[in-house]
Formats: sequence, structure tokens, C-alpha cells
Amino acid sequence: MRERLPMLAKRYGIETVADVGCGDQWWVRKVEWEVEYEGFDIEHQPVKFNCIVDVLPKAYDLIMCLYVTNHMTTWKYIQQTIENFQKSGSKYLLLTYADGPKDREPWHCPIEWPPLELFLANDNPKWKWWHGLWELKP
Ligand SMILES: C[S@@+](CC[C@H](N)C(=O)[O-])C[C@H]1O[C@@H](n2cnc3c(N)ncnc32)[C@H](O)[C@@H]1O
Repeated sequence: MRERLPMLAKRYGIETVADVGCGDQWWVRKVEWEVEYEGFDIEHQPVKFNCIVDVLPKAYDLIMCLYVTNHMTTWKYIQQTIENFQKSGSKYLLLTYADGPKDREPWHCPIEWPPLELFLANDNPKWKWWHGLWELKP
């Protein structure tokens, strides 16, 4: 993904990025792209941001939410997160999901409309992980 982000930024004219659930940002700091980047996290940031209840302070060209929603305990929390992303008026969403077992709801793709791009993140022998890029509908 580190190599793909500059390509996506160029292809979709992305200038502003919100990284939601950014963690300690160890790998994203090494991405070579010219964007205005802001990290949001429920733990790792001075201002705590909970994407299940909080709406981003402005519209971004891209919201990145990588390896976050799969840790949520209910499908409702994931849906609320997607709704909050839409409420922000942001344009694109890059989200990780997995082709998980049917009894593990949070591991399925939570977005109904087709992605613009889909990248295999990790070919886990049990189930595949994907990074999808979607246009967020208002
Ligand atoms: C597995 S880490 C992924 C970090 C980073 N996105 C990456 O790809 O390396 C998950 C991160 O999501 C954050 N997180 C979990 N639930 C969250 C929530 N409801 N709102 C915001 N951040 C959350 C955690 O604190 C953690 O930093």
C-alpha cells in the first residue's frame, strides 16, 4: 500500500487525506506523496477521535481507514462509521476488509456499491484481505 498511495493520489487528484485509525503512523510516514495528511485515532493522537460516533471536522479528498473496522465488535458500528464518513462530505474511502467466515460479520465488506479499485492486501490461507477504494456517496 505504501507504493500504491502515491499512484492513487495522482490518479484521483487527491490532495487532502484523513487517516482514520492511523495508529502510530510508522509506515504511512514513509509514503512519498505530496498531500495534506491528518491522522485520527481513538488512542494514538492527542485529540481522541472515535469514528463510530465522531464526524471528521471537514471534507477530505480521501479517508483512509486501514485495518480498523475489522476490529469492531458489531456490524452496526461499522455502518455508523461509514455513515459518519459520508456525513463529512469526503470524496473517496480506502478501506480494508476481509473475505471472512460468514459467522464473523465485521470481516465482510460493509459497502454495497462496487469499488473503483481493489487490491489484495494479504493472501491469508483462511481468507483474503482486501483494500478497496470507493467513491463515498453523499
Ligand atoms: C490495527 S491498527 C491499524 C493502524 C493503521 N491504520 C495501519 O494500517 O497500520 C487499528 C487502529 O485503529 C484504531 N481504532 C480502533 N477503533 C477505533 C475507532 N472507533 N475510532 C478511531 N480509531 C480506532 C486503534 O486505536 C488502532 O490504532
